[in-house]
Amino acid sequence: MLGHVPAFVRRPYDFVAGLPAHGDLVRLRLGPLDAYVACHPDLVRRMLTEHRVYDKGGLVLDKAREVLGDGLATCSATTHHRQRRMLQPAFDRDRLPGYAALMAEEIAGVTVPWRNGEVIDVPAAMYRLTTAVTARCLFAAHERAGSLPVHESMDVVTRGVARRVMMPLPGVGRIPTPGNRRYRRARADLAEITRRLVADYRAAGTDHHDLLSVLLAARDEDGQALSDAEIHDQVVTFLLAGMETTAAALSWVWPLLAAHPAIRDRLHSELDTVLDGRPARHEDLPALPLAARIVTETLRLYPPVWLLSRTVAADTELGGHRIPAGTTILFSPYLLHRRADLFPAPDRFDPDRWLATPRPTPGTYAPFGAGARRCIGDAFGTTEAVLAVATIAAHWTVTPTPGRPVRPRRSSSLSPRPFTATLTRRR
Ligand code: HEM
Repeated sequence: MLGHVPAFVRRPYDFVAGLPAHGDLVRLRLGPLDAYVACHPDLVRRMLTEHRVYDKGGLVLDKAREVLGDGLATCSATTHHRQRRMLQPAFDRDRLPGYAALMAEEIAGVTVPWRNGEVIDVPAAMYRLTTAVTARCLFAAHERAGSLPVHESMDVVTRGVARRVMMPLPGVGRIPTPGNRRYRRARADLAEITRRLVADYRAAGTDHHDLLSVLLAARDEDGQALSDAEIHDQVVTFLLAGMETTAAALSWVWPLLAAHPAIRDRLHSELDTVLDGRPARHEDLPALPLAARIVTETLRLYPPVWLLSRTVAADTELGGHRIPAGTTILFSPYLLHRRADLFPAPDRFDPDRWLATPRPTPGTYAPFGAGARRCIGDAFGTTEAVLAVATIAAHWTVTPTPGRPVRPRRSSSLSPRPFTATLTRRR
């Protein structure tokens, strides 16, 4: 009855990473649904370039749509072009230095109060950091944007979405359990926060050089602005897409560095030379190549968005198989990144592999996806991650509590289960 669901739910990452042994396109039975997984980079590349045929949809997306509505990440190809054109200015390269200045302030706000010898819950601390950064870059006008209650609401919403995505059977989310009630309340709180902020911004009518200002100023080809409902969906999309992903990646960095002290020492010496004890700024980034490679390699081993789905919009052919319209097709950056033919010794943490391959072939390294639906926040997220790694590692050695291996959560985003670490002040 359940097909591959039990095997998938029990060990999702091993299950998915093992699929290439069964072919380039593998058929799964997930309860009442049949789905295919594209395991070969050529097939993934085709899916991502033909984004009108392989449209957003399928079991993962349908659950995410409950929360993100028709925002940029979840909308179908028919409205995507209009949305992407309107939102792209918010992520133009020339805006990054401005965002990076806000990021640096928020990173300091979270890490300066840390005390020598303190034991922190690492994923929770990284999540607090990325919430503060994302909220600040969205709502810079709000004097305490970094500490808006979006943190609590997003936490509940994110976990609610993750649970729904990992439970492909329909209807479970509608049962009035305490968890489901909390989830609905958090969504309502988030809607209320967004509604109030949008009203304040509209009343002030000022460009605050933040994401919300761009959303309010955006016009389509007919001069049409985004409606309040559309702005709400985009705000929640940016919050969810921006916080959880970068927090997951940052959480993995610390156990990886602790397990590879030689790499950590080299990072420390890069940071000591470039930063000399001060926090990292946007203009430091070109001088921090090892910090950047550490982030790249962490995203290879633990791509936060590790499983994605598409729905086939019209009958097609993929890998020599006829695929009828309506079929769900999955692809997984995690699966690609762990293929030994694409990345030799794929389980090894080796930031220097990127010295030889600074630009991997599209379809092989895909933590941000590819094609028309590639992550709009890729440079934003990478900048944030490198600044955070650099500032934290410049000041602290983060040592995970020994004897407790750090393991992935079974979730739609590949983040570690809660784990603690001791902070030792370096300078
Ligand atoms: C390390 C951090 C991040 C990772 C790993 C990541 C990953 C991804 C991936 C894999 C996709 C493609 C999804 C698909 O093909 O179905 C995506 C799309 C997207 N991401 Fe990110 N993301 C990150 C950071 C961010 C940030 C910081 C933001 C915004 C502030 C953001 C906003 C979005 C949006 C709006 C989309 C949809 C783009 C579209 O369909 O046009 N992401 N992200």
